[in-house]
Amino acid sequence: MAHTPDPLLFIRSLWRIITRKPQVPPSLKDNALLNVIMRRRSVRTYRSDDIPEDVFCAILEAGRVAPSTVNLQSWSFAVFTAASWRATFDHPIPFKAPRAVIILGDTHRDRLALGEETIAHSPLVEYTIAVMNASLATMAMNLTAEALGVSSVMLSETGQSGLLDAEYLCAKLHLPPGVFPLMTIVFGYAAGAYPPMPPRLPMETVSFDGATGYREPAPGVLDDWLAQMIAGYKASHLTSSFQAQLHLYQSKIGKAEADLRRMVFGESSTGKGGA
Ligand SMILES: Cc1cc2nc3c(=O)[nH]c(=O)nc-3n(C[C@H](O)[C@H](O)[C@H](O)COP(=O)(O)O)c2cc1C
Repeated sequence: MAHTPDPLLFIRSLWRIITRKPQVPPSLKDNALLNVIMRRRSVRTYRSDDIPEDVFCAILEAGRVAPSTVNLQSWSFAVFTAASWRATFDHPIPFKAPRAVIILGDTHRDRLALGEETIAHSPLVEYTIAVMNASLATMAMNLTAEALGVSSVMLSETGQSGLLDAEYLCAKLHLPPGVFPLMTIVFGYAAGAYPPMPPRLPMETVSFDGATGYREPAPGVLDDWLAQMIAGYKASHLTSSFQAQLHLYQSKIGKAEADLRRMVFGESSTGKGGA
């Protein structure tokens, strides 16, 4: 990984971030849903005004009616206002957003409905299904919010609100076994213009012709992306760096791994236990 930024590479990388836009075929440029999807950005600065109740209800409803495996709906949503978040966690919602929802994978309710025996013997499959379904519900909320003029950001770490703080959240929210935190999504009205789109890999890197099989990235593509990530991060976080952010994640990941194994698979801290 490049650590000392080359000034030319830095400027070229920033230029590419600023100038690269989502690609929409001209024939579809007026499609309303496509425009919402392409316009969406993770927003990290919010105005203080609250979201009207009907708008927030519509966002939650989009999560409730999201698609899921066998319609299992293996999610729960812990819903907060600014006041209830502060009362629970003793600090404001990340980025001082007015609303937040903690997204939980929920296999507990599935087991209550279907009986322990139906799925409990395949914990990895059960877990994966819950993660998939809860993530899709989150995306439905995220896009509904965007369509209603409300911005959001999903968080796995910031402010002890996601996957990397699973044990802490489990205690705070009194979660039964089989219910595990995935992320927090915070909602509010953006203060100012949206940030540029963080660098995306080219279509030919992230897709391949299914008939010919998986394609390795072309030489230089990943270095190019990394250089843009480092430059973009530096431009938006003057006192930090992409490497420092990765380091923070690395420092928390080991504990989160052990916590999740215990919470999701019933493993003890020394190794495997019963699920
Ligand atoms: C599951 C998930 C977890 C994320 N966690 C964080 C986080 O902890 N902190 C943060 O600032 N952004 C977080 N993000 C936002 C990503 O950084 C963002 O989606 C990515 O950089 C692409 O930018 P965009 O959403 O504006 O297109 C997360 C996004 C997802 C989907």
